[in-house]
Amino acid sequence: MRDAIVFSLVWVLGAWCLGCDGNPSLPPSSQQSRAPVFCDPFAPAAGEPMSIERARDAHRWAELRRHLRMREALDPGHFMRQSAAVADPQRIDAGEVSCKTLRDIGRLLFTHDFTAQDGHTEPLRRVHRGDEGGPETHNCRSCHWRGGEAGAGAVLDNIFLLGDGDRISSADPRNPPPLLGLALVQMLAQEMSASLEADRAQALRRARATGEAVAVDLQTKGVSFGRLVAMPDGTLDTSGVEGVDADLVVKPFGWKGNFSTMRQFVRDSVSVHFRLPTERDGVPLTEGQVTSLLLFLATLPLPQVTIPERIPDLPSIAEPIPRPPSFDFSDDWSRGHALFESAGCAGCHRPTLVLDSPVFVMEAGPSGWPVAIDLSQDIEPPLLSYDAGLGGYPVHLFSDLKRHNMGPEAASQHVHRGVAVDQYLTRRLWGLNGSAPYFHDGRAPFIDHAIAAHTGEGEAARRAFESLDFGQKADLRIFLMSMRRPLVVTIPD
Ligand code: HEC
Ligand code: HEC
Repeated sequence: MRDAIVFSLVWVLGAWCLGCDGNPSLPPSSQQSRAPVFCDPFAPAAGEPMSIERARDAHRWAELRRHLRMREALDPGHFMRQSAAVADPQRIDAGEVSCKTLRDIGRLLFTHDFTAQDGHTEPLRRVHRGDEGGPETHNCRSCHWRGGEAGAGAVLDNIFLLGDGDRISSADPRNPPPLLGLALVQMLAQEMSASLEADRAQALRRARATGEAVAVDLQTKGVSFGRLVAMPDGTLDTSGVEGVDADLVVKPFGWKGNFSTMRQFVRDSVSVHFRLPTERDGVPLTEGQVTSLLLFLATLPLPQVTIPERIPDLPSIAEPIPRPPSFDFSDDWSRGHALFESAGCAGCHRPTLVLDSPVFVMEAGPSGWPVAIDLSQDIEPPLLSYDAGLGGYPVHLFSDLKRHNMGPEAASQHVHRGVAVDQYLTRRLWGLNGSAPYFHDGRAPFIDHAIAAHTGEGEAARRAFESLDFGQKADLRIFLMSMRRPLVVTIPD
């Protein structure tokens, strides 16, 4: 066992291997134009998802986390110091740290309990004080745990945003969403923003050339963001733009869609939930450690839409109770799939958006260069795969990545980072099976309650669902429940 632990520590904190193809010869001044450090393909995890190898791997991780807690008892602040040294941006740039090592550090940082030695010094506060935040807790997992690693949170894990630091009624509740497929979401949003930006540039050029106002319909990946008018003097009329800010940058993170990159969101999470300064304001969480957290989140297995398999005849739980009947859900699923379209759900919860490039480039922090990873190769199955018919990589996220007016009943009290009180981003439904409760404040314990909470632009879909008969509602639920994470072996500690 001792050997196993020593191996684990070497594996995670000491594996200074040559996995990344860095280019250390360029000076930091060329940071903006510098090509990203490319991750070498990760070694595929050994064994089938439910194999004994995976169980052993899960056991090693549990042992490692336990061991690291003992190390903290012996030498508080140990893990943060060690992981900062390994995930040093200069060493990442020089190709001295493999992306797998960084991913593993990110995984451990996600469950690490931040202490005073790490810079977590303020007393806990349940309600945020303005945009300063809490701190409310000591680790990421305390809110993101439900349904698997980096999962959702229960209602009791809600955060209370933009309050007075004291009264829950002064703040806006937000439920922790599951952190699934975030890299793909960022990549889709970036491609959409680039396309909108190109439309704007072209309209401005044409307006200047013709001396007349030019109107352009903003459409990208089949999603309409309204209309923009470019004037010959170079100004823009953005009053017809919908579902995105006037800067046309699609911001896919947060219930309201107010952050454009994972790096921004993770920095903000560290600052508001733990009140830990990030490298911009002075250590302790270095940009290398933030990159590690991003790599961990970016490489989590993707959720799937799986037609539910037949539930076999199960044994009776106790003698007088009859054996449950055998179910086959495939017909219900197909009918539910069709209802998802006909009830108007797919208008906002777009089942598939097609990604042009599978390479996720994490933007550079204040020190160090961007890191890139190919998600069609370097994640565990199900891999992102090219579809020649669609001309790209389909991502089944069930969202248009657009904000909608959800009506006064869903409105928050405060404008959050410039987003109006009644605006919310279409929530991605992938992984829905393991992420209850639903809706931005966790008010919906079950799918029916979530649909009933759709007002404003969602009103027609809510009515369409209400008008379905008992069996049709069941079919639609079966379809929604088929959006789930792959099963993996984990050992709680
Ligand atoms: C106190 C509870 C809490 C803790 C601790 C917490 N989160 Fe969150 N997280 C939330 C809530 C609530 C949201 C939704 C916030 C919003 O929409 O404004 C969220 C959203 C996110 C998102 C955006 C997801 C999306 O789909 O929009 C990311 C990324 C994230 N958290 C990462 C982290 C990381 C990394 C940590 C640890 C450094 C962390 N969180 C710690 C509660 C928490
Ligand atoms: C007008 C766009 C729109 C339509 C149409 C729509 N939704 Fe939504 N949906 C949203 C938005 C926006 C949210 C997030 C709202 C919030 O939390 O405030 C959401 C949230 C949800 C959630 C909760 C997800 C979670 O993780 O908490 C479910 C479930 C859901 N929708 C299902 C449906 C179904 C089923 C239909 C069709 C009957 C439908 N929606 C139609 C925009 C829409």
